[in-house]
Amino acid sequence: MGNPSKSAVLREKLARPSMMMVAGAHDGLSARLAHETGFDAVWASGFGISAAHCVPDASILTMNDFLDAAISMNEATHLPIIADGDAGFGNVHNLVRMVRKYEAAGIAAVCIEDKVHPKLNSFDEREQVLVSMQEFTNKLRAAKAVQQTQDFVVIARTEALIAGLGMEEALKRAYAYREAGADAILIHSKDKSGKEIVEFAKSWKVPVPLVVVPTKFPTLGREQLEALGFKMAIYANQGLRAAVQATRKAFELIMREGSTLKSEGEMLSMEEIFTLQGMPELVEHEKRFGASSEN
Ligand code: SPV
Ligand code: MG
Repeated sequence: MGNPSKSAVLREKLARPSMMMVAGAHDGLSARLAHETGFDAVWASGFGISAAHCVPDASILTMNDFLDAAISMNEATHLPIIADGDAGFGNVHNLVRMVRKYEAAGIAAVCIEDKVHPKLNSFDEREQVLVSMQEFTNKLRAAKAVQQTQDFVVIARTEALIAGLGMEEALKRAYAYREAGADAILIHSKDKSGKEIVEFAKSWKVPVPLVVVPTKFPTLGREQLEALGFKMAIYANQGLRAAVQATRKAFELIMREGSTLKSEGEMLSMEEIFTLQGMPELVEHEKRFGASSEN
């Protein structure tokens, strides 16, 4: 018998009593670091992939750009990939194509949000515009209708709190999205006190998994989120932010010193990167099969 699909693995992890820890990644290497450090799954972050291309998280990249990045992540780790599908890259028709492409590529889950397309990152302070509840439930029903395997996971994300529409609207939308077939609900919040997230979680009364993105409320740690009943916490952007900071420091040090003498201890060795990028397997293959390409 073959291995279970990554969607099946994700479903099994979501059904456990403990909360899944999910790391945001922007490429294959960051996805590999997520698995190496013990995370349960990888979030193919729209923000992170956009930032890695040095463009805003505002639907500037195409669906294929995001899918290519998610595929690199999928190839780099045995962990399930949960792809940030933004607003589905357009209307129902665009969303249908997205679900088909992502599922066919072996991505375990997509998360779609009830914002308009083109979207803005949730922490952009300008006005956040949502589509109607009716339009988004239609999108969810379409996503669930066209998925090919039972296990493929569709996460519905409501941005009602981000848009300042209040708790009642957030709960109303979340229940409607669940009715429309969502496998899990991501409730997004930028309330630094964490009170909003606590209130939402305590009001959630159905056994559909809740997902949280603890970017703005770091005081709510793993234990508290788990006690509130969350089944998945996505650390969406911390890896990228740490990597950019480290890269900038290394570059500054080289420019300041005119050599790498002082930065060597701050960086991984080339050999460590070789290992991360799969060089041992390549060497093994060469021993077994040779590598010549006679012509
Ligand atoms: C992302 O990582 O792209 C997300 C999470 O959607 S957030 O940036 O918090 O909106
Ligand atoms: Mg995003």
